[in-house]
Amino acid sequence: MAILFVSAIDDPVAWRRELARRLPDLDFRVWPEVGDPADIEVALVWRPPPGLLAGLPNLRLIQALSAGIEALLADPTLPDVPLCRMVDESLTVTMREFVAATVLFFHRGLDRYARRQRQVRWRLEPPRPAAATRVGIMGLGVLGGDVARTLAGLGFRVRGWSRRGKTIPGVETFAGPDALADFAAAVDVLVCLLPLTPATEGILDSRLFAALPRGAVVINVGRGRHLVERDLLDALDRGHLRAAWLDVFAEEPLPDDHPFWRHPRIHVTPHAAAWTHPETAAEVVVENLRRLRAGEPLRHRVDRARGY
Ligand code: NAP
Ligand code: GLV
Repeated sequence: MAILFVSAIDDPVAWRRELARRLPDLDFRVWPEVGDPADIEVALVWRPPPGLLAGLPNLRLIQALSAGIEALLADPTLPDVPLCRMVDESLTVTMREFVAATVLFFHRGLDRYARRQRQVRWRLEPPRPAAATRVGIMGLGVLGGDVARTLAGLGFRVRGWSRRGKTIPGVETFAGPDALADFAAAVDVLVCLLPLTPATEGILDSRLFAALPRGAVVINVGRGRHLVERDLLDALDRGHLRAAWLDVFAEEPLPDDHPFWRHPRIHVTPHAAAWTHPETAAEVVVENLRRLRAGEPLRHRVDRARGY
């Protein structure tokens, strides 16, 4: 069973090592060294070039290296074989750390201290308790659910919004488009952890920003196209929003001349929030290969009609 590895960001050497430790008969090919395309039964991928997978006649499984699979679904030639997304401890833990760090950054006013340092201004703000900050998480799946529980554990007042109703201890939950404005009305720090689908594209827009209390902060760790960029700049420049932390962008890398780079109230990170480490994620892939061979249901299979 030959595996084709396609990724511009993940390390093929580490992936080969971690898979080979678990699969002694591993046949691992790194694109563009495909060999005979007819040998490939599994594609292990992060954003492969559109059309590439359609050239693999015996493909049986597309296993994404990522949680988000919108780029794969956007390829009209994507073969009609099972598509599984990545759900892995390292991805969950790194996202948990990143969102906790950015929420705490704003909660403790570190953005204001950084600004005052540039002004050579010594002004102390006594810290407020975590419960004074209301955090709203959009998307309560594997990552959003974990982040909601973590922040509730740190003492924040946490609410979450998802497509279907959810119960998470210590978290106030809202479901569906009709509940979005009510959800947003009591959110000081908004975190987007939604998948990108036709229903969520452009959801971070002027309507949603207007529903947030004045002075709210937006953290986008979902996808760049969740955000209507012009609406964010307007809301920041009018002073309705205090700041934004953006990790994902409609165009990546973010072009050098993009206004986000130099905006005094926007913090930019290069799609760095979470990471799939092969040391743990190889286990997830190996389990799906075992299931594929055994004809058992695959784990974390994407519902293509739903889009996530
Ligand atoms: P997931 O487990 O599939 O969870 C998705 C959540 O979004 C679910 O709670 C789902 O609701 C909700 N949702 C989907 N469509 C919705 C809609 N139209 N309205 C309201 N809620 C909706 O996904 P995940 O593993 O948590 O990953 C989430 C996303 O994070 C990924 O798709 C990816 O874009 C992003 N991500 C970013 C990074 C990074 O480094 N920046 C890393 C990893 C992932 P239900 O629960 O009702 O189904
Ligand atoms: C990264 O962005 C992912 O979707 O895993």
